[in-house]
Amino acid sequence: MDWGMKNRLSQIIKPETGHTVMLAVDHGYFLGPTHKLENARKTIEPLLPWADALMLTRGILRTSVDPDVSIPIVLRVSGGTSIIGENLSQESITTSIEEAIRLNVSAVALSIFVGTEFEHQTLTNLAYLVDEAQSVGIPVLAVTAVGKELEKRDVRFLALSCRIAAELGASFVKTYYCEEFEKIAESCPVPLVIAGGPKLETELDALKMANDAIQKGAIGVDMGRNIWQSPHPVPMIKAVRAVVHDGVKPEDALEIFEKDKK
Ligand code: R5P
Repeated sequence: MDWGMKNRLSQIIKPETGHTVMLAVDHGYFLGPTHKLENARKTIEPLLPWADALMLTRGILRTSVDPDVSIPIVLRVSGGTSIIGENLSQESITTSIEEAIRLNVSAVALSIFVGTEFEHQTLTNLAYLVDEAQSVGIPVLAVTAVGKELEKRDVRFLALSCRIAAELGASFVKTYYCEEFEKIAESCPVPLVIAGGPKLETELDALKMANDAIQKGAIGVDMGRNIWQSPHPVPMIKAVRAVVHDGVKPEDALEIFEKDKK
């Protein structure tokens, strides 16, 4: 791997632990003003000291994150659909690699929609982006999206999607946690991070999911709603860090959360 590519990846995946806690705040690119992310700056700022990287679009980066903040950026560069539109899977590349360089990002991220009408379009988007990004040493994060069909998040579908993403050259892949997650990890030759998905009922549920994913081969999380839709986002991200970076058991991480929120 080229020096620049390695260097950028190690800004995101911390060499001390080999793990990462990415903070996902890109939801507005198809969901609009998502609950608790209406004022993105207000949500993002208190969490910055605890996040290893920030995943977002160029619009929120420019408007809601100060350029003197030192945090690796994973720039979402796919989109072009909305939750009220006809088909969430019809994504295109929305941001050029020149723009990614201008914004000094550490990686670019794009969704693939395997098994949908726009499978071919989103997979060739990925292949094109890998070519572009590779030529300037920027890693690509492929996101195995499921659109509105949340029930698709099973091991067969996700293993297939992750493997295809890796075959097309993604440097790392973001997917969902599911039963038998280890099978996804075993058959995907690049690092995996998990999305949190919609807010789970309790903080402990989210901490358990992060722990299970790490135990079964993920190298980290790219979590959004389960952190910033918690009534106590800073204690929550600290607890997630404890699980991901320090191997703290979910029940003990919950104690960190409970103590910190006081
Ligand atoms: C998909 O890539 C979305 O835009 C989010 O980045 C992703 O779902 C992670 O956020 P959450 O943990 O809220 O699911």
